Amino acid sequence: MAQFPAGFVWGTATASYQIEGAVHEGGRGASIWDTFSHTPGRVKNGDTGDVACDHYHRFREDVALMAAAGLNAYRFSVAWPRIQPTGRGRVNEAGLAFYDRLVDELLGAGIQPWATLFHWDLPQALEDAGGWMNRDTAHRFGDYAYLVGERLADRVAGFMTLNETYIHFLLGYALGTHAPGRALGLGAFPAAHHQLLGHGLAVRSLREAGARSVGIANNFAPVWPASDRDEDHQAANRLDALRNHLFTDPLLRGEYPALALDMLSQSDPALLDVILPGDLSVMAAPLDFLGVNYYQPDWVRANPAAPLGVETGTLPGRDYTAFGWPVVPEGLTQTLTGLKARYAETCPPLYITESGCSQHDVVGEDGRVRDDFRSRYHEEHIEAMRTAMTQGAEVRGYFAWSLLDNFEWAEGYSQRFGLVHVDFATQVRTPKDSYFWFQTFLQGQA
Ligand code: FCB
Repeated sequence: MAQFPAGFVWGTATASYQIEGAVHEGGRGASIWDTFSHTPGRVKNGDTGDVACDHYHRFREDVALMAAAGLNAYRFSVAWPRIQPTGRGRVNEAGLAFYDRLVDELLGAGIQPWATLFHWDLPQALEDAGGWMNRDTAHRFGDYAYLVGERLADRVAGFMTLNETYIHFLLGYALGTHAPGRALGLGAFPAAHHQLLGHGLAVRSLREAGARSVGIANNFAPVWPASDRDEDHQAANRLDALRNHLFTDPLLRGEYPALALDMLSQSDPALLDVILPGDLSVMAAPLDFLGVNYYQPDWVRANPAAPLGVETGTLPGRDYTAFGWPVVPEGLTQTLTGLKARYAETCPPLYITESGCSQHDVVGEDGRVRDDFRSRYHEEHIEAMRTAMTQGAEVRGYFAWSLLDNFEWAEGYSQRFGLVHVDFATQVRTPKDSYFWFQTFLQGQA
């Protein structure tokens, strides 16, 4: 495969609730995912993140695995309820100390730490006060960002404020299949607006605390109409406005997309009242980079009976992951070149902050995990990224989701995304063939 520029960032990504476990240790408060996963019927097989990959105790072993693969970066998330158990007020020193140790361990292994401040584990006490539906949560997030920045900014290579504002809005607040499990439909718009406001306030806090590089990790997908029919094109445009532009235009253009505002006000004009004067300029704080999480395109057709008149389906005729997601590397190329085209000179450098696939991996009798599917997946997506670069997209890094098999939200432990297999009964880690594929690939880049 082709050489990437010197200094290109190669990492893996994880999230606190998905890997840490130790939910009652170090003074951690409860998060919405503790509540949700312990509510019967919410997560497959009744799985919870109580133990997960026990990374809280095994982080040294996990960092050693990254180093041995030759990775030069690691994206992790900080659990807000470890830093402020109730989401406000006094800082919990033991929580900060954990991330301090992790960051030092990474630096000692020659790995750049990249930290996300919010990957969905909101302190339960804030949810009890309304969660992201409450404007106050944005301000609490700004305070929390300062506490983390003050402690870690001298060593963290890049901060991401939030992870996938759209997915958290959609699954957590609009549909209710993720924590906090609220099914408000478009009535969930305040949760989108307040996350974006919280992002802007956190950017400000992180800069005050001395952060070198600040961005966000949003989820992007090209939206493809299922046919050439005009109605299907219009349906695709509507979903594109809602799932892509709504969450990034305010940050890079300082405005909400008109099409999304129309849909929201048609559903309930009062929804837009949460947008107060000055909010958009807070959200539009300049960024050093934009993180792109990419998995698959959205494939849509018009259906007047469906919400927003848009029916989504699964792109036919592809290979599929264990999740049933189609493998579409050219969707990544289109996403990256599309960002460059839409945001032009206001588009900051891009990083792929998540890319990966799930499979039902098993450790063979010879101790090997044969996941050629995953090696090919990463190879094709890295190639798709390179194609976008040759077409003018400025991409500086690629983080594979994920280092370890982990707690995949509502799917529990049933979807394995790791380069490293985890036996959840024994916590034994077994590098898969895809891990060794990366190792060889990175040797070729050295
Ligand atoms: C993304 C999430 C990440 C993981 C992958 C599979 O939407 O950010 O935590 O669950 O999907």
